[in-house]
Amino acid sequence: MLDRVNWIDVGLVEDIPARGARTIATPLGEVAVFRTGAGEVFALMNRCPHANGPLSEGIVHDRHVTCPLHGRVISLATGRMRDPDTGCTPTLPVQVGEDGVIRLALVPSFANA
Ligand code: FES
Repeated sequence: MLDRVNWIDVGLVEDIPARGARTIATPLGEVAVFRTGAGEVFALMNRCPHANGPLSEGIVHDRHVTCPLHGRVISLATGRMRDPDTGCTPTLPVQVGEDGVIRLALVPSFANA
């Protein structure tokens, strides 16, 4: 299915600091693109499932982000809040090309919570 999706360029991976994020305005709303300490890149809607906190301003650790508002921990890979909390924010497909350009598909999906 994703081969039929329009991928949009959202900048260079090197422009996002390790354990950091940048935000992208999209027709779906603001998307947060994260880069982990290991160099992986993930994209989630920039709102915490608890009370819409800006996840892009949270602390990135391993493959998770801690929300800056109330400290819930969200998986960057699935968008799910860590137990015992429940809730999920949509994730979006993201790729990094050999040219270092991050490409985002505006196809949000929810993990099964
Ligand atoms: S808004 Fe994220 S933990 Fe409350």
